[in-house]
Amino acid sequence: MRINDRKLLTQLAELGVELRPATKLSEWTSLGIGGTTDLLRISNHESIPGLLQLLDENQIPHKFLGGGSNLLVEDGELPWVVLQLVPPQPDVVLEGHLAHVDAAGDLGRTVTFCAKHDLGGMEGLIGVPGTVGGALRMNAGAYGMQIGTYVREVKLYRAATRQIETLRGHQISFEYRHTSFAPDDMMLAVILELPSKPYNEILKGIRICNEKRRSSQPLGQKSAGCIFKNPPGASAGRMIDELGLKGLSVGDARVSDRHANFFVNTGHASAKDMLALIADVRERVQKGYGVGLENEVVVWNA
Ligand code: EPU
Repeated sequence: MRINDRKLLTQLAELGVELRPATKLSEWTSLGIGGTTDLLRISNHESIPGLLQLLDENQIPHKFLGGGSNLLVEDGELPWVVLQLVPPQPDVVLEGHLAHVDAAGDLGRTVTFCAKHDLGGMEGLIGVPGTVGGALRMNAGAYGMQIGTYVREVKLYRAATRQIETLRGHQISFEYRHTSFAPDDMMLAVILELPSKPYNEILKGIRICNEKRRSSQPLGQKSAGCIFKNPPGASAGRMIDELGLKGLSVGDARVSDRHANFFVNTGHASAKDMLALIADVRERVQKGYGVGLENEVVVWNA
């Protein structure tokens, strides 16, 4: 979708919003898949209510992009524009046990920064790509921990009230890869309350998680992490592996040989290829195990 209206372009500039026309989302997603649209980059949280009102008035649909690391975007010309936060500098400020983090901050760098100041708890998340906002929305977790545990406060734009609001941790429910945020809420910033731990000890935990991840996940390849959620008490990766589906491909979309719940883009896979592979694997697991797998990856299609 293209924004061409001169008046609107002026209004966006007045709000301090940077327009990057005809952006290929394949360059902004870890899968390397996704069509083209205008990207609106936001440097100032306070401009968001005004921006969304303008888009509404001009009947321009929109979506929020975080780090693009858990996302499958459809091909071709996209029927909505994409909004993205630009991280401020610095994007993490510490105050005792509290880390004030901008949602656009990189998750891995945040974990490392806190670790260097003897604040731990999030070691398991070190290899998880993406932004803090994306991790928060999905309640990202690994190796027995999840980010929700440490959330004290979240600043967000609430689509329902069209305002920037602050929620306390206890007002938000964090479940396995699910939170009580509405789909069109936009994460802006979070305060994490982290336990004290000596840097050396945190580093040991980080090294162990890194090693486990390196040995079991296809880290150097284009992927969106795990494609399916684990059903209660079972492992999607193990089921897909046991059905002998590693290496199964549609075009350049392929079930990883290393971890069967990672689907990789080995070249120029399209969203159509990846969606066909997801549907095929889901059907085979349904037939083989009687289990309906749910997507863990977020899919943007019309
Ligand atoms: N397994 C296989 N074959 C495979 C993959 C896994 O047999 O191809 C077996 C493993 O041997 C293990 C079991 O399945 O016994 C579970 O595998 P793993 O430890 O790799 O964990 P997972 O359940 O597949 C979850 C998260 C990951 C997270 C890891 C580590 C989900 C959907 N996935 O994977 O998160 O990194 O645990 O904690 O919850 C993600 O969210 O994108 C993601 C990758």
